[in-house]
Amino acid sequence: MWCAGVLTIFPEMFPGPLGASLAGKALAAGSWSLTVSDIRAFATDKHRTVDDRPAGGGPGMVMKADVLGRAIDATATDDRARLLLSPRGTPLTQARIEALAAAPGVILVCGRFEGVDERVIAARGLEEVSIGDYVLSGGELAAMVLIDACVRLLPGVMGDEASHAEESFTEGLLEYPHYTRPQVWEGRPIPDVLTSGDHGKVAAWRRAEAERLTKERRPDLWTAFLRRFRGGAAG
Ligand SMILES: C[S@@+](CC[C@H](N)C(=O)[O-])C[C@H]1O[C@@H](n2cnc3c(N)ncnc32)[C@H](O)[C@@H]1O
Repeated sequence: MWCAGVLTIFPEMFPGPLGASLAGKALAAGSWSLTVSDIRAFATDKHRTVDDRPAGGGPGMVMKADVLGRAIDATATDDRARLLLSPRGTPLTQARIEALAAAPGVILVCGRFEGVDERVIAARGLEEVSIGDYVLSGGELAAMVLIDACVRLLPGVMGDEASHAEESFTEGLLEYPHYTRPQVWEGRPIPDVLTSGDHGKVAAWRRAEAERLTKERRPDLWTAFLRRFRGGAAG
C-alpha cells in the first residue's frame, strides 16, 4: 500500500481535503495510508518550542534542527523518499509525481516560519521540492497537493485508467478541450468533428488542439515536447 507520512506542527489540518472525493474514498478503501506526526511532540521544553530566532538576525523564526531531527528519526524509519516542501526546491512535475506514486510512498516535512535550519536538511537527506514559484505560509497545503497528485495515479483509484493516459503533461502536451451536452449552449455549438462519430477524425482533432494549446500557452513545454518526441527545434 502507498503510504504518505507527514510531519507538521498542524496535524489537525490533515486529512482535510484529502479526506473527500477521490482521495478520501481511496483512503477509506485502504488504497493508501496517511500517518501524520506532530513535530511539537518532539520538543523537550514545557512550551513545546519548535522554532527559534535566526542566527545572524533578521525577521521571523526558524524551525529547530534538534526538534525536527528527532521527529524525522522517529517517523521516517523506512526507505521512502524524504521530501521537504520548500519554495526553493525543485519544481514538481507530472513525471516526478508518477515516479513518487510508483514508489512505496513518501515522507513529507512541512516547513513553517522562515523555513527550517539548513543542517537538518543535509543531515537527514531531505530533498527540497516546490509546488510553484510563490510563497505559501506553510508546507501543509503543498504536501496535500503532492499527495493528491500521487494518489489519483495509484492503481484502481481513478475510475477510467485511460483518462490518465490523455491528461495534461502525461505526453508532454496540455490536454485538448472538452465538451458535453447540450449540443448548443448560449449559441456556442460543440465542434462538429466531436459529434461526427469518426473516431480517427476525433483523435486527430484532439491531438491538433493539444499541440495548438501547448504551443500558445506553454512555449517551454512545447520546446521540450519537440525535442523529446520529434527530435527537432520549436516551430
Ligand atoms: C513562509 S514559507 C518560507 C519561505 C522562505 N522564507 C523563503 O523565502 O523561501 C514557510 C514554509 O511554507 C512552505 N512553502 C511555501 N511556499 C512553498 C512552495 N511554493 N512549495 C512548497 N512549499 C512551500 C515551506 O515548507 C516553507 O518552509
